[in-house]
Amino acid sequence: MVAGVLAPVRRRCGIMRGMSDDHTHVQEFFTARAADWDSRFPDDGPAYAAAVAELGLRPGDRVLDAGCGTGRALPPLREAVGPAGLVLGADLTPAMLDAAVRAGRDREGRLLLADVAALPLRSGSLDAVFAAGLVAHLPRPAENVRELARVVRPGGVLALFHPIGRAALAARQGRTITPDDLRAEPRLRPLLAGAGWRMTSYVDEDARFLALAVREE
Ligand SMILES: C[S@@+](CC[C@H](N)C(=O)[O-])C[C@H]1O[C@@H](n2cnc3c(N)ncnc32)[C@H](O)[C@@H]1O
Repeated sequence: MVAGVLAPVRRRCGIMRGMSDDHTHVQEFFTARAADWDSRFPDDGPAYAAAVAELGLRPGDRVLDAGCGTGRALPPLREAVGPAGLVLGADLTPAMLDAAVRAGRDREGRLLLADVAALPLRSGSLDAVFAAGLVAHLPRPAENVRELARVVRPGGVLALFHPIGRAALAARQGRTITPDDLRAEPRLRPLLAGAGWRMTSYVDEDARFLALAVREE
C-alpha cells in the first residue's frame, strides 16, 4: 500500500536539500530533547489515544502523523487502521526519529525523514493527518497546512492536537497567551479555511487542545 502513497523518488530526494535556518533551529531544539522526550511526558498516552479516536479512522485507512517526533501517536493510529491500514510518521529531526526507533514505534508505522512543507507523498493519497505539537513550529503555517491538505483526499480529516491546552502550555513555558497566537480560534479557523480545510470542532481546555477539520472538495 505504501507504494501508492509515496511520491516518485525525485520529489522525495529533493526534500532535505538546502536546510533553511528555520529547519536548523527546529532540529537543534528537538535534538537536545529527543533522548528524554517520552520520559518527560509519561502519562500522555491516554490523551493521544482519545484524540486519535476523534479522527474516526476505519480499518484499512491511510494516515500520516505529521511531526511525529518519537512516534507517541503511532500505536493508537495503528490500532485504529489495523494491519490493513497504512501509518506514516514524518519528522524533520533525525534524533526524534532515532528515539522512535529505539522505542519500537517503527513497528507501528513507516517513519520518514521529511519536512511537512514538502511531503514525499502523492496528492490525495491519505485519509487523515494527525499533528501533535507541530503547528507552533511551522515557519509558514498557511503554506504548510495547505501542504497537509494536498496529501489528503476530499472529505479526509485533520487533527491538530496538544496534550495540554494553550493556557496550560504557556504557563509551563513561563509566558502568557496572546490573541495573535496562531492556535487561537479566531486565527486558526481562517488559516485552515484558506488552506483547504473546514474546521469542524475546536477545544482548548487545560487537559487538551484539539482542533478538527475536514478537507474541502
Ligand atoms: C513538540 S514536538 C511533538 C512530537 C510528537 N508529535 C509528540 O506529540 O510527541 C514537534 C515535532 O515536530 C517536528 N517538526 C517541526 N517542524 C517540522 C517540519 N517542518 N516538518 C516535519 N517535522 C517538523 C519536530 O522535529 C518535533 O519532533
